[in-house]
Amino acid sequence: MKSKASIKSHPLHPILVSFPIAFFIGAFVADVVGLATTSEDFVRLSEWLSIAGISMALVAAIPGIIDYIFTVPPESSAKQRATKHGLLNVSVVILFVVAHLTKDGGLATAVLIEGVAVVLLMISGWLGGTLVYRNQIGVDPRYADAGKWNEQRFERSVNPIEVASADELKDNQMKLVVVGGKRIAIGKSESGYYAFDDRCTHKGGALAGGALICSTVQCPWHGSQFTIRDGAVTAGPAKANIKTYPLEQKNNKLYLTISTA
Ligand code: FES
Repeated sequence: MKSKASIKSHPLHPILVSFPIAFFIGAFVADVVGLATTSEDFVRLSEWLSIAGISMALVAAIPGIIDYIFTVPPESSAKQRATKHGLLNVSVVILFVVAHLTKDGGLATAVLIEGVAVVLLMISGWLGGTLVYRNQIGVDPRYADAGKWNEQRFERSVNPIEVASADELKDNQMKLVVVGGKRIAIGKSESGYYAFDDRCTHKGGALAGGALICSTVQCPWHGSQFTIRDGAVTAGPAKANIKTYPLEQKNNKLYLTISTA
């Protein structure tokens, strides 16, 4: 799933999080050394590292929030994971703020709080790794002939709604349209254009980011396959079919009808 906060396809969040991770761990280690050696220099160093970590965490949060809203598929296992990841990160920042404010009252307490924060940071980092390496958030895994990532958003749903021109896609290419928040994939096969839910019925993987071959779309997360003509599941682990939508071609334009039923 291509990141919405990236520069030349390089997602910004994974780049920026390196800074708060390094600063927070550095602050904790400096305080531990300061506690062990009673060196004021290390405690002072830790304070500056804490401030740098908190500042960079807030900067890194901006592309993270953008990807959380626009890149992570809604109603998916990745969304739940990303929510926990975000809450853990907020907790880490709060704990480092608290440790920073309480340091004058006792360094040992501050070190304890920072230790808890670093453990939470590790757990959050693990979840972040799962989001990238397994859920492919920010990764564009599509095959060579899939074309560039093609996504278009529509504010209001009028029925039918013009969603593409008839020559926009080649065989086995897909486009994601988001109509009033609803994500629908448009795919072209040898037999024509089809519209279907972007959401895999297994754990919510985004099908528009998968592979389309011979009218079959394969989910990028665990490989479930669906026939795009009627939405039938042809290979698990998904068990339920995906919903399909009427797509009509008129005057070189494609019109999508979204039923409310
Ligand atoms: S989310 Fe598991 S196969 Fe699609």
